[in-house]
Amino acid sequence: MEDKILKIKENALSEIEKASNSKELDEVKNKYLSRQSELNTLKKSLKDIEPSLRPKIGALTNEVSKFLEEKINTRHNEFYKKELDEKLKSEKIDVTLEGTYNPTGCVHPLTQTINEIVEIFEHLGFSIIENRLSPEVEVEKYNFDMLNVPQEHPARDVQDTYYCYGADNVVLRSHTSNAQVREMLNTKPPIKIISPGRVYRNEQVSARKNNFFHQVEGLYIDKGVTFAHLKGVLNEFISQYFGSARPTRFRNSFFPFTEPSAEIDVQCIVCHGKGCPTCSGSGWLEILGSGMVDPNVLRDAGVDPDVYSGFAFGMGVERLAMLKYAIDDIRLFFNNDERFLKQFN
Ligand code: DAH
Repeated sequence: MEDKILKIKENALSEIEKASNSKELDEVKNKYLSRQSELNTLKKSLKDIEPSLRPKIGALTNEVSKFLEEKINTRHNEFYKKELDEKLKSEKIDVTLEGTYNPTGCVHPLTQTINEIVEIFEHLGFSIIENRLSPEVEVEKYNFDMLNVPQEHPARDVQDTYYCYGADNVVLRSHTSNAQVREMLNTKPPIKIISPGRVYRNEQVSARKNNFFHQVEGLYIDKGVTFAHLKGVLNEFISQYFGSARPTRFRNSFFPFTEPSAEIDVQCIVCHGKGCPTCSGSGWLEILGSGMVDPNVLRDAGVDPDVYSGFAFGMGVERLAMLKYAIDDIRLFFNNDERFLKQFN
């Protein structure tokens, strides 16, 4: 029995010696010190040997287990240190290496501007109408006829409006005012809506003009709505959007669908009113058209002009963004140049 134990010790020692890494050492440990190990089986069979021999053999097995355990632990610490050193060496990080660039997207400046405009009007009690009431591909009836635009009006000219090839009287809408007509046909007053969207015009593309751009249309119809309401709402919008410091003016104008009509100008950001090429020398830039909805338009859309009145407006989103951020070329919005877009992050 004693010999057997000493033989186990000897074998274990030589295997501990032979192990060349911590993984191999773990296997040795498992073989000699686990519950299924030979030593442990011997311990369990102590009860079967002669009682007088038990204490000696018992003590010897314990001593050998303890001895082996210590040996293994010492060896293990050596391996651990060595392996850690190797790992640290091989996984060394070069902090001077260039990092990985993960570009993040940002909301397009025009979308940001639309969101801002919409939020201001929402606080003034306007709601946004559904997309189906504001289609970009539109019949002439809603883009022109029902807005009191005469047949011979120059805006209908193919030079100004895109007509859909092969479809009679179908255009790419030239303004968001189609939304007014559709909303009036769809709901009974009171109506207090805005409708942002894209519009198309057959323009020569330049720093000031693109052949598509964005507008936000507004319509407020109720009993007793007057020009004072129009001025109040639009002045409030302008002071919230630009801050009250920016000079603005109401200017008399004409639109077939409003009477009276007015345009709002904002002082040119480039020349501060002195006159420059950006504002064609006038010192002012137009940002929106507006007016009291023409009784003909109300009547055609089924709203009784003797009971109801209202005002409408249409503002240019690109213009508003250009004025606020001092952008001098409308094409920048559509070129998808990251250097430009990133500035609005
Ligand atoms: N639709 C006009 C345009 O695109 C802008 C406009 C003017 C809209 C007067 C309106 C309005 O609703 O009442 O130039």
